Amino acid sequence: MEKQFKRTLVTCALPYANGPVHIGHLAGVYIPADIYVRYLRLRGEDVLYICGSDEHGVPITIKAKKEGVTPQDIVDRYHSIIKDAFTGLGIHFDIYSRTSSAVHERNAAAFFRRLYDDDKFITRETEQYYDPEAKTFLADRYITGTCPKCGNPGAYGDQCEKCGSTLSPEELIDPKSALSGSAPVKKKTKHWYLPLDRYEPWLRDWILERHKEWKTNVYGQCKSWLDGGLQPRAVSRDLDWGVPVPVEGAEGKVLYVWFDAPIGYISNTQELLPQSWEKWWKSEDTRLVHFIGKDNIVFHCIVFPSMLKADGSYILPDNVPANEFLNLEGDKISTSRGWAVWAHEYLKDFPGQEDVLRYVLCANAPETKDNDFTWKDFQQRNNSELVAVLGNFVNRAVVLTGKYFDGRVPEDRSPEAIDAETLAQILPCREALEKYVETFHFREALKEAMNIARIGNKYISDTEPWKVAKTDMDRTASILRTCLQICADLAIAIEPFLPFSARKLRGILRVGIQAGTDHRAGEGAPTENFYAPEPVPGLHTAEPSGEDLVLRWDDLGRSDLLPAGHVLGEPVLLFSKIEDAAIQVQTDRLAAIKAAREAAEAAKAAEEAARRVEPQKDEITYDDFARMDIRTATVLAAERVPKTDKLLKLSIDTGIDRRTIVSGIAEYYSPEDMVGRQICILANLAPRTIRGIQSQGMILMAKQGDGKMRFITPQEVVANGAVIN
Ligand code: 2FM
Ligand code: ZN
Repeated sequence: MEKQFKRTLVTCALPYANGPVHIGHLAGVYIPADIYVRYLRLRGEDVLYICGSDEHGVPITIKAKKEGVTPQDIVDRYHSIIKDAFTGLGIHFDIYSRTSSAVHERNAAAFFRRLYDDDKFITRETEQYYDPEAKTFLADRYITGTCPKCGNPGAYGDQCEKCGSTLSPEELIDPKSALSGSAPVKKKTKHWYLPLDRYEPWLRDWILERHKEWKTNVYGQCKSWLDGGLQPRAVSRDLDWGVPVPVEGAEGKVLYVWFDAPIGYISNTQELLPQSWEKWWKSEDTRLVHFIGKDNIVFHCIVFPSMLKADGSYILPDNVPANEFLNLEGDKISTSRGWAVWAHEYLKDFPGQEDVLRYVLCANAPETKDNDFTWKDFQQRNNSELVAVLGNFVNRAVVLTGKYFDGRVPEDRSPEAIDAETLAQILPCREALEKYVETFHFREALKEAMNIARIGNKYISDTEPWKVAKTDMDRTASILRTCLQICADLAIAIEPFLPFSARKLRGILRVGIQAGTDHRAGEGAPTENFYAPEPVPGLHTAEPSGEDLVLRWDDLGRSDLLPAGHVLGEPVLLFSKIEDAAIQVQTDRLAAIKAAREAAEAAKAAEEAARRVEPQKDEITYDDFARMDIRTATVLAAERVPKTDKLLKLSIDTGIDRRTIVSGIAEYYSPEDMVGRQICILANLAPRTIRGIQSQGMILMAKQGDGKMRFITPQEVVANGAVIN
């Protein structure tokens, strides 16, 4: 039998504060989590919703170094950008704190210390790369070199971003310290390890036997980790940015970012609820759900649970819904390459269209496989789904009610079977929606909410109240009454997915909604979210009906939500069409990024090719060399060899004679470039006929790895015919 819980603790992966959040993060983690939390709250459940910035880790220190600022400067900058972007998209965590907070530093250190005192760690001395010039150990990210798999000269000690291979610093060819550029040396260092192997039997049972309901991608990844056998994992690092390891003899060492970050969920709960946090983390009545991206699965399903188990006083996650990755216009989203749609920029570029992004990212969420975001699809989903289906239906219903019934919900004066049959289709949508949300299938859940709009749209198109009104006002009344009930259903159903539009719709219908309780006020009385009818200011012309209506989730599917006589608000548009020009701006921006990247890659490749050096040829004797007659000469005249791109015919003074040499240098020199230049030639090369011209000798050229050629010239002018040896 399924366990009954009293409350749900929802955490969202703490985003790294080394860049803004993008659509990949939103689609993978934050939009699904927000839908889930809003839904549970609408259903009256007690939910705590925790997030914050992950502010430690090497990428942050590298970025700081690159920009010549402190790591704190970096995390301060991105913490507020990220926090504001979440708020702008209607994602209101109960707390959005940060792992550089004092509470976290204390809590993470205490967590480590408890495990340390309880002998839950082992220590190991290993050899790590050390930069003798910068006098510091080098994290894997601080070591760069050539990728052994693809030859990328800019691979990191943990990963090659070009071919995607996971690497260890030892595998890099010609490793260099990113700090000083010097070659790193190996040096001994001691670290603490969590012996995951000890937890393996327990993890196998806990996940593989008792959590078969986890999403297939999550379960599958856990199974392959477990089947591969778990190894002890280092939980400390030689670094000066992070939570200092709280034991003696650990100077210069901090907790590994993946040890401290998940503890951040607990710290942030403590910061919000200093008296009552334990109820959320230590009571079996709490259901813990971690929303994460797929690259976080091992940490949340294996490492963090092992840490919690080692401590022994915490609950474990009941579910860890993780999505796959979202690509952008066919390419992997990448913060470092700038290939992303950033949440904060979207909010600037599409003001008032927050729900469009929420909608598209949910409708297209990479729930079971990687998916692609394209601006065309974004536009199309807005124009042909939100505008044409949901917005159009609501607008037709409300505008016609304004026109024929003075903006009041009409009475059911002339019902027909189709009305009840239509309304009866809504409850199954609700039931399906509930099932899908509760099993983390948000795309399908959203489809069910939209189905309600489709049902309404079909009904209004089939019944054509604008035509019926010409002859039968009683029937028109029943039709519009039915439409308005469906609008009220929609006001409930879309709230988890499209909160901004739901709010507008409440204004149009003049209804409130009982939207649950949040804990943003902290330890004080939790904030009850009764969303009062929220008229759009200045747009109300109708008289209030005297009684405000409050809808609840359980009303969804009932057919009498709006009583006859209820006065509606003014019909504002829920959605507006997105024009081609707005999309063009976005695609142009991406095209410019792509072009710049390709140009940079091409320049880099050309530079590498130019540096490529031919291996040394087989050894020769001095006599072999002495047989070559190399001399200086001067070009007297030059012309292109007709019908060729590469050949110049040069007439030269060798000091011995005047002769003709045909040379393949026309790609690099024009005839004018050559006339009067002193060059070096191999004079005793047997003559050859090239394109009908006898060539007597060869011009000496320096040829780079990329094929580019330059003739050799003495540093100062010397007599023609001077022998080179
Ligand atoms: O992948 C990431 O963005 C990590 N910063 C997620 C950390 S989740 C948690 F453990 F804090
Ligand atoms: Zn590579």
